[in-house]
Amino acid sequence: MTTLLNEFQIAFFSELLAERFITIPDQRIEYGSDETEDYNFPPSAVLKPISVEEVSEIMKFCFKEGIPVTPAGARTGLSGGALPTHGGILISMEKFNRILEIDENNHQVTTEPGVITQVLQDAVKEKGLFYPPDPASKGSCFIGGNVSENSGGPKAVKYGVTKDYVLNLEVVLPNGEIIWTGANVLKNATGYNLTQLIVGSEGTLGIITKIVLKLIPHPTNDMLMLVPFFDAQKACEAVAAIFKAGITPSGLEFMERDALIWTKDFIGESSIAIADNHQAHLLIEVDGFNQDQLMLECEKILAVLEKFETDEILFADSEAQKNTLWSLRRKVGEAVKSQSIYKEEDTVVPRYELPKLLFHVKEIGRKYGFHSVCYGHAGDGNLHVNIIKGDLSDEKWENELPIAIRELFTKVVKLGGTISGEHGIGLVQKPYMDIAFPEFTLNLMREIKRVFDPKGILNPGKIF
Ligand code: LAC
Ligand code: ZN
Repeated sequence: MTTLLNEFQIAFFSELLAERFITIPDQRIEYGSDETEDYNFPPSAVLKPISVEEVSEIMKFCFKEGIPVTPAGARTGLSGGALPTHGGILISMEKFNRILEIDENNHQVTTEPGVITQVLQDAVKEKGLFYPPDPASKGSCFIGGNVSENSGGPKAVKYGVTKDYVLNLEVVLPNGEIIWTGANVLKNATGYNLTQLIVGSEGTLGIITKIVLKLIPHPTNDMLMLVPFFDAQKACEAVAAIFKAGITPSGLEFMERDALIWTKDFIGESSIAIADNHQAHLLIEVDGFNQDQLMLECEKILAVLEKFETDEILFADSEAQKNTLWSLRRKVGEAVKSQSIYKEEDTVVPRYELPKLLFHVKEIGRKYGFHSVCYGHAGDGNLHVNIIKGDLSDEKWENELPIAIRELFTKVVKLGGTISGEHGIGLVQKPYMDIAFPEFTLNLMREIKRVFDPKGILNPGKIF
């Protein structure tokens, strides 16, 4: 593969895309990063196609010439999936920013991949419809990136993740062929499920150019409470107990003490009081179409919580307060990033094992001398473990941390979990894939990659 473009290749792209073929150094540097730690891999050029035909032409040419291609959305990813580690070109899908059709008769939306997730949610909400998956970055991430990474977010606990809404995809294959993966139907038993194979494939099998999503009626009511715990373990234990009482909250989020305090500082929020002995909080939301029903569910939750040593519970009494609480939760990642160099892990275990997962995180932290801030989608058993560099030596950070992470992931898998719940493998989790899968299974995945991309030009260096 060639990583730098020659004159012939530059002439081809210039003619095809004119000013949408960009080689300006500043732009290449900008597009060389996503939100993953502080990585930067500037591509040789940034391409901004506007049609599926253009994407197809680009891929046909790159396939022939052996040019590495990294597809990118809004570059909000946390596993380095959109980093052009092998140089070559980066295809930014930002000009694919139109919602093509909201089909109210069938509760479906057809969209281009470069639409911001929240823009899509707002557009369908105007019709009374709901697209639930809502990653923390929903105000800036693209729906195409969500599909590529199979994003989750707080609502996943009740409504499922991105994969649960994807019905059909238009995809440009590495050789430039354009395919549809399925049909715009709710049931489909026709051959292999190519749609779900593309979902979560992190831009390694094809470039998504159109997405058909399922929608559901938008709930009309919700209630939100912030519950302080004197003991973080107890907060984790309370999670499974809530479900066992027959409740499925529409959000059940965990935040360790530091996560909340740092985020309060970060966004300048002072109305939410955190006492010295509050070790963790659960943010619990229920939603539906009937306020009495929600009150009943809250009462049941309160009855469960009585057994877990909580302090006074805050019920959000206005939309503004709900927004403040959700914003506190959504900004944790950014707040941590602003504090220190950090490593972000996206561990997930069966929900009931969450207390054990937290225990292992802290125990391994003590053993290797690192501090971690944990938060995340507790209802899904999905804990974001942010390991803080603080004043750890570079030597420890570079050499010992990977050993500690390996130990943590091994525990996670022993608990029945896996190494990424919603951020993907991309670049940064790739060294640990052998913990999640035996070699035989990894080879099966590599063979699938080869069928789609025999020359290995599309998003090289990711996942395996
Ligand atoms: C969150 C992102 C980091 O849950 O997944 O905030
Ligand atoms: Zn998350």
